[in-house]
Amino acid sequence: MSTGTSEAVLQVLSGSVPRFFDSDSCFSKSDSIFLSKSYMKCVKKRASRYMKLLSCSSTRQNPIGTYRFHSIGGGLYGNFIIDRFQLLSCKCQRAESVSEVTVEDGNGTWFVDEAKKISPINGMVNTTNVLDLKEVQKLDQEDFSSNGNIPTAETVRDTFHKTSVDSIEDEAWDLLRESMVYYCGGPIGTIAAKDPTGSSVLNYDQVFIRDFIPSGIAFLLKGEYDIVRNFILHTLQLQSWEKTMDCHSPGQGLMPASFKVRTVPLDGDDSAMEEVLDPDFGEAAIGRVAPVDSGLWWIILLRAYGKSSGDLSVQERVDVQTGIRMILRLCLADGFDMFPTLLVTDGSCMVDRRMGIHGHPLEIQALFYSALLCAREMLAPEDGSADLIRALNNRLVALSFHIREYYWIDMKKLNEIYRYKTEEYSYDAVNKFNIYPDQISPWLVEWMPNKGGYLIGNLQPAHMDFRFFSLGNLWSVVSSLATLDQSHAILDLVEAKWADLVADMPFKICYPALEGQEWQIITGSDPKNTPWSYHNGGSWPTLLWQLTVACIKMNRPEIAAKAVKIAEKRISRDKWPEYYDTKRARFIGKQSRLFQTWSVAGYLVSKLLLADPSAAKILITEEDSELVNAFSCMISANPRRKRGRKSSKQTYIV
Ligand code: GLC
Repeated sequence: MSTGTSEAVLQVLSGSVPRFFDSDSCFSKSDSIFLSKSYMKCVKKRASRYMKLLSCSSTRQNPIGTYRFHSIGGGLYGNFIIDRFQLLSCKCQRAESVSEVTVEDGNGTWFVDEAKKISPINGMVNTTNVLDLKEVQKLDQEDFSSNGNIPTAETVRDTFHKTSVDSIEDEAWDLLRESMVYYCGGPIGTIAAKDPTGSSVLNYDQVFIRDFIPSGIAFLLKGEYDIVRNFILHTLQLQSWEKTMDCHSPGQGLMPASFKVRTVPLDGDDSAMEEVLDPDFGEAAIGRVAPVDSGLWWIILLRAYGKSSGDLSVQERVDVQTGIRMILRLCLADGFDMFPTLLVTDGSCMVDRRMGIHGHPLEIQALFYSALLCAREMLAPEDGSADLIRALNNRLVALSFHIREYYWIDMKKLNEIYRYKTEEYSYDAVNKFNIYPDQISPWLVEWMPNKGGYLIGNLQPAHMDFRFFSLGNLWSVVSSLATLDQSHAILDLVEAKWADLVADMPFKICYPALEGQEWQIITGSDPKNTPWSYHNGGSWPTLLWQLTVACIKMNRPEIAAKAVKIAEKRISRDKWPEYYDTKRARFIGKQSRLFQTWSVAGYLVSKLLLADPSAAKILITEEDSELVNAFSCMISANPRRKRGRKSSKQTYIV
């Protein structure tokens, strides 16, 4: 980035020019007073062993309405109890609401017909950007031909016959319902995989927070709100649970990676049983990774629930508001970092094994940005929340600036990097992160299309991770972390690199794979992450849903429709695998689970959204005009480079 721009950023963020937002710490005194006065009581006693598990038992008084926050060393708030009495009402009496989860009529409308009727966001009639039947049939024939199979009239007819597509959808709904997990009689989540052939279950019998998101969205789109509401409220209870690893506790506000419903003997009464929720915050997970994405997804789902069901009472609850604030505090806490991006360890998101993404991985930044925007929409304007909102707004501006400016890469930028000077000691260095041009890998020089671009995987001092990570890029489009131009360019790249990113099964988790010595050093010779397998260039059907939301947002649903058609050829026949291997995604993954729930749910969400693109707005966040103004002010302070909308003279106070 050029001198003027960086100075403007520094000035804006340090307050030497009029501020748009204050940068006070979010740990304000007033906020903690608000918390303690409203609903926290100090306690002296440590929780007993059984309180480690959230339990549901009809014999115990107030079974899970009271639970303990543990902070061994006193922590920020010491030990306290929060009574979440409201939650009690949904305990152990869900039988009647379970029956509300009924099987509704399947949506037999073929998505292409529907996509014609409604434009994604504004509901206008739109026929320009959708595939029509003939076009999709052509695509399908081409795909058959590219596989070396001559399409017969019969195969083409079969493939496109609406009933066969409907039967895949029906099967997917059956599988999704079979994966539902119940707690105290009510649906609370979906199991990660229900693979009858699986030899080692590991933790795939748990409800993963990130895996439940497409399940939850599918249920919301179907009008089945109970399971999502229960999931939101029960995982909220787990957020504040005691979590330690070798006597160390992570920050309050962390959401678990997964949880399991266990049936255990009732405390003090061996003849009776009770159900307990047993969370895993990474203390048991392979590699002991803290799931940074869980809380961010939780906020995104909470907003989607409110938008979809119209029931805002959940997000308005005091305990839910506290949950949002705890996640924000954890993410917005001051640290040593110079960047506005979140600093995390390797494996803290969907890629939950060592893959060299530690630092500031794009996936986390996109979810962070999205969660900040969603939280801002939902936070109640309480006394004492002004500081938190200010910190949040500051971060939004700085984060979007940082990602749009420094993570973006296309032919032009690549050429700039190629000609970078290095070792520039000064405030006005062009090559701020001291990137050595030799880092530009030979694959990238060949791979970068003339039209299109993407956000790189990670940025550190003297290090740009040029790998293309799909989820981070797609969610940057959905959340408007990427500019409009960048968002279109990302989809242009998806189209240009179709054979690499989609090939025989959408969608590659990252491109390219780490191979040879790089694989040895970066993954630690991980036998599960061998080249073009699993996280290392494997293809994950679940990513279809994020692709679909991104395409709908950009009014280019035909790209997602084409990917769905490809998935439909194999996904059911292959038994809904977790991931596929090889460069072209030709094999079911080496250690892939079958009947992986988020593969099923991801497909369903794509189908439902393509049938009714306007429903995608529950997930989309449009570019915020205040942020655009703040961003433009920074850019316009740059004499060498003007970008985006015209700078507005308007000053705004948040
Ligand atoms: C694997 C994936 C992770 C997922 C989990 C459960 O560990 O890497 O993203 O949440 O399986 O499906």
